[in-house]
Formats: sequence, C-alpha cells, structure tokens
Amino acid sequence: MHSTAPHPLDDPGASPFGIAQKAAEQLAERTGVDRHDIALTLGSGWGRAADLLGETTASIPAVDIVGFSAPALAGHAGTLRSVLLPNGARALIIGARTHYYEGHGVRRVVHSVRTAAAAGARTMILTNGAGGIRDTWTPGTPVLISDHINLTADSPLEGATFVDLTDLYTRRLRDIARTVDPSLDEGVYCQFRGPHYETPAEVQYAKAIGGHIVGMSTALEAIAAREAGMELLGMSLITNLAAGIQTTPLSHEEVLDAGKAAEARLGDLLARIVSAL
Ligand code: HPA
Repeated sequence: MHSTAPHPLDDPGASPFGIAQKAAEQLAERTGVDRHDIALTLGSGWGRAADLLGETTASIPAVDIVGFSAPALAGHAGTLRSVLLPNGARALIIGARTHYYEGHGVRRVVHSVRTAAAAGARTMILTNGAGGIRDTWTPGTPVLISDHINLTADSPLEGATFVDLTDLYTRRLRDIARTVDPSLDEGVYCQFRGPHYETPAEVQYAKAIGGHIVGMSTALEAIAAREAGMELLGMSLITNLAAGIQTTPLSHEEVLDAGKAAEARLGDLLARIVSAL
C-alpha cells in the first residue's frame, strides 16, 4: 500500500462526486488533456486494446490520482492512460479496477467511472473476463452484455436516487459492435460478489433467473455510468465455462491464460469497435 492515510472516499461526509471532480482535474493536469470523450475499463484479457486504439500520450499510475486505490491483483495494470484516437477524439483507458470483493465499499468501485464522467466522457466501455453459462461459448469467446442482474445487493447510488436502468447497455452501441463483428453473441451478465467462484448450484440459479454470464464486476460500475448520463457498452471475454457447466475445477490461472490467449484478437476487435463509434 502506498500510504496509511485514510482513503478520502471512506469518509462518509465527503462527496464522491466532489472527489471525482478533483480526480478529473488532476487527470487533466497530469495528462495535459482537458477533456476525454470516451472511457474504457479493460478487464482480464482486454489489456492489449490499450496499445491498439491509438497513440498513448500519457500514462500515469492510478494511485497518483485522488480516490484511486492500489491494485489488488497482479495482472491488473494500475495505470490510467490517455490515448489520442485516429479520429482525433481522446480516450481514457482505465487499467485500474477496484473490485467489490476487495471489501472497500462501492464508492471506491465506481470512482473510476465517476472520474471518467467528470473528465467529460459521454461514452463508457466496460470489459471483463467472466464465466459462460451457454456451453457453446468456448473459452476465448467475446460476448456483448445485453443487460445485467446485480446480485451484490448493493448500489453505488446513495439516498433516494431513483435511476432508470432500461436499455442500460444500449442497443445502439451493441448494434455498432455487431457491424464490426456480426458473429458477436450477447447475454445477461450476473454480478456476484466473489471473490470465490460460484457454486454449480449458484450457476444454475443464475441461469434460471435469466443470466448467461457470471462475473465479479461491471454491474455496479454500469449503474454509476447511467447515473452520470453516459452511454454504455459492455463486453465479456468468456475465460471459462461457469462452475458445473465445465466439469473441471475453476482456477484464476485458467482465467488469466484464457485472457492472454485471446488478448491480441480482443484488442483488435475493441479498437475496431471504438473507431466505428
Ligand atoms: N465466475 C465469476 N467470475 C469469473 C469467472 C467465473 O466463472 N471467470 C472469470 N471471472
């Protein structure tokens, strides 16, 4: 850990939006870019996209920006990058995800999304590595997220903030993604708390309630993105079949290996989708 000072988002009296605003100002100062147009959170398997989207003009350790937490996981880069896209737009690449399972509370989980919004981003792309419930999705398959089921029993919204979540992962952006790759399938993402993988019974439960993908991120971030008025695209890399669908035990190594194997292809796919937006 970088410091033992109390984390600013852990102060219940602090405004998470005020801290995101401050973070956006620091980001502008450190990157020399006043405004970012689009933000991407790159989960397991998606990191290569950062190099393929355009020209990286600044790369900074996320912990240098207020409100960001040190990465909990090797393989999660912990950097924020500013990328100049071929069309002149500016992308903010978030390689520093705070997961809900880390137990630091949902404010820290969604801080990167709120910072991106405060930095000007109107479009948010959330990616992750996840387990597949459909057995036709072999490991390495990218899928569009069509909707989610939030099984964390938590929310980034505080107080009586009633936010509509219809068409959260907008059809418009999913359709654009399919113009790039018509073979892209889509499914409903279920966010479990983790960090344990699901039991086979929980996977059957997720399937019975309409889920197709199981994972430990994204849904809470998606809610914060909608609250901030951003248009959202979500994509999962199926790194494994979900527990019980595959008969062998799940492991983090398997997830990382599937991510690595798919990385070049996913990076290329995401870069082509972003240039089609
Ligand atoms: N379940 C939850 N999270 C995951 C999985 C899974 O099967 N694979 C990768 N992340």
